Amino acid sequence: MPQIKEILETMDYGPAPEAADHVREWLKAHAAGFGHFIDGRFTTPVADQTFEVRDPARDETIATVSQGSSQDVDAAVEAARAALAGWSATPGHIRARHLYALARHIQKRERFLSVLESIDNGKPIRESRDIDIPLVARHFYHHAGWAELIASEFPDHAPVGVCGQIIPWNFPLLMLAWKIAPALAAGNTVVLKPAEFTPLTALAFAEVCREAGLPRGVVNIVTGDGATGAALVKHPGIDKVAFTGSTDVGRLIREQTAGSGKKLSLELGGKSPFIVFEDADLDGAVEGVVDAIWFNQGQVCCAGSRLLVQEGVAARFHAKLKRRMATLRVGDPLDKSVDVGAIVAPVQLQRIRELVAKGEQEGATLFQADTALPQNGCFFPPTLFTDVAPASTIAEVEIFGPVAVSMTFRTPDEAVALANNTRYGLAASIWSENINLALDTAAKVKAGVVWVNSTNMFDAAAGFGGYKESGFGREGGREGLAEYLVPAWLKSLPKAEDVPALTLSALPAETDAGGAATLTIDRTAKLYIGGKQTRPDSGYSTTVRDAAGAPLGQVGLGNRKDIRNAVEAAAKAGAWGAATAHNRAQVLYYVAENLHARAPEFAQRLLATGASPERAEREVAAAVERTFFYAAWADKYDGQVHATRSRHVTLAMHEPWGVMGLVCPDEAPLLGFVSLLMPAIAMGNRAVIVPSVVQPLLATEFYQVLDTSDVPAGVVNIVTGEREPLARTLAEHHDVAALWYVGSRQGCAAVEKASAANLKGTWVSDGRVRDWFSAEQGQGREYLRHATQVKNIWVPYGE
Ligand code: NAI
Repeated sequence: MPQIKEILETMDYGPAPEAADHVREWLKAHAAGFGHFIDGRFTTPVADQTFEVRDPARDETIATVSQGSSQDVDAAVEAARAALAGWSATPGHIRARHLYALARHIQKRERFLSVLESIDNGKPIRESRDIDIPLVARHFYHHAGWAELIASEFPDHAPVGVCGQIIPWNFPLLMLAWKIAPALAAGNTVVLKPAEFTPLTALAFAEVCREAGLPRGVVNIVTGDGATGAALVKHPGIDKVAFTGSTDVGRLIREQTAGSGKKLSLELGGKSPFIVFEDADLDGAVEGVVDAIWFNQGQVCCAGSRLLVQEGVAARFHAKLKRRMATLRVGDPLDKSVDVGAIVAPVQLQRIRELVAKGEQEGATLFQADTALPQNGCFFPPTLFTDVAPASTIAEVEIFGPVAVSMTFRTPDEAVALANNTRYGLAASIWSENINLALDTAAKVKAGVVWVNSTNMFDAAAGFGGYKESGFGREGGREGLAEYLVPAWLKSLPKAEDVPALTLSALPAETDAGGAATLTIDRTAKLYIGGKQTRPDSGYSTTVRDAAGAPLGQVGLGNRKDIRNAVEAAAKAGAWGAATAHNRAQVLYYVAENLHARAPEFAQRLLATGASPERAEREVAAAVERTFFYAAWADKYDGQVHATRSRHVTLAMHEPWGVMGLVCPDEAPLLGFVSLLMPAIAMGNRAVIVPSVVQPLLATEFYQVLDTSDVPAGVVNIVTGEREPLARTLAEHHDVAALWYVGSRQGCAAVEKASAANLKGTWVSDGRVRDWFSAEQGQGREYLRHATQVKNIWVPYGE
């Protein structure tokens, strides 16, 4: 006779299906097809302009949905535009009540929405019921609070306007909430396009908007595929595009919106490392892997898909992991005891199969437990590759399926090198019982979210988003809200007339062969790279003249090679970012003092350019003051501890981008230069700066100040020459992480387009003219915000 214990241990799970009657009835009631949700009403579906939505687990059609045309997008944008004035003027407290109402209605429908999500997407009901939908409600509650607080917490900010939001299929309703809740809280109106595989919960949400009494036009939902998305992105009536999806489409959107003045946030792919140190709690880490890569069938942008295991424990860890894989149940998403559901669509399943076949061809060792799969539907078993070469396809490409690849490392430095050996930088998970090691690694990993002894934690209070080609901008937290606001001063800047970009060929340029002899000035200013004055690679210089055309001196004509050298020098000066903020503050104070000591010389230079004595003096004084200002900020623009729901403290750290390209305005040649350079280096970035094309001698004079102020070599690199080609080279350069550009609209368009190469963060002036003397426009938090990116580190805290 078997013992009860034995029976319990060997007993198999029976099916425990979640009731789906309500959802099936709802789908039946919409058997004629779903229209779009525009201006508070559903449109009538038009024959031939629809597509079918399928349940990937049962391989059957469940709904017919409208394919949004450009006219549909026009109508939705128009409705959002018409609603904007009223919604943005609605008092924060009233907006908050609308958001509370949405949250409450979602909570009331939690069961319905969970089942619908699982049927539409294929994710296990346990996940949609316990994770997705509760987080959706949480997001609306949290942002209802923000609506209440925005006026006091973000003084002098305005909503961006009409937001076009495009979301993927992996967390359909959760991604909707991440996009819509902050947008509405900040007073924007939206047009959202859900993914073509999974539009149903967005349509159910549209019903919720109606039921909850949201004013019409505030939320509009247009269904369709990539063509509908593209029409939304290109629509001139959109002020901001927020996109989550593949890096390829993100890059396309970056190119398409270049020069449009549209604000952009991109949350793209990842290949996130999951680092297991030898002192980790291995059983805990095994459970971590389950949540990292088998959660949502691995269709998670921040999935811990690259396991990096310290050599000494690798064999033991892999053995434990394989044992655990054998217990994972793959099957009907509506079965409450299923761990792994269906892949979203046949095309994704095919992609996973191809990549897995590639892994085998590449010589990696494949392991799949003897997992039973349903006969029909899109299913793929949990898969582990070991013996993976770091440069192989499966180690580099986002598989977006339940496939983990595992590599080993020996030392913590090697772990960090491997972790960062990717074009992505979305997330990382670090497992160690040694908090020093874990936090030290967290600081060194280039990723927007880091989980210590945990993984795939999300909360409305914490920012989420990536470094490098994982995109830019954050969703969630205070930092996410900022993406839906603009400082009022920035919004009100006058738009400059389109002027032809100023190039040196348009200036009376001479080579240094003959020009120098006629000059009243002593020397030819060189470039400043790696702490040294260097000759331009081209061997050419150009004459700088005053307003009346008289020669003032010569500067080097920098080219691509000089920019590359400058970026290389900046890349080597990484110690600046690792220095304490206190140290950086001291150096900036020293710069400010030395600039002050040389004030008469700088004023003299400005006088020579044709500035009046009063203006020259004012500009130097303002430059000194601004340098002191950023010295003061260097150790004060610190992060936050977010109060996330789980037992974690979530440290929102402000980190420097790394190497920044700065392209200065022509006007205010000293103050403009200082206004871009100082916030960038105060935050720990290294800069390659292209000064005013018309009057670069103020910048070249600045070397002396840098040389005498303990600014380490390579932190500031100055390349003079023609602005547009230099800016373009900076925009294209893969080691430049962020770029600020002040100049013409055409110039802005060119750099934004070129920046798509590595999806660097850009901040361009959109051809708007700032008053550099104004304390509001020429300095402040907006500059500091653009000089940093936020890394959220989740650290277990409490029990
Ligand atoms: P996708 O990037 O094509 O789709 C995401 C959304 O963008 C959908 O709503 C789609 O209709 C829309 N879209 C497509 N082309 C567009 C365009 N030209 N302009 C505007 N919107 C457009 O992703 P897809 O094809 O569904 O999946 C392919 C791969 O992308 C996956 O295997 C995965 O590697 C990655 N992916 C990453 C996601 C993430 O959360 N980071 C989410 C979905 C996919």
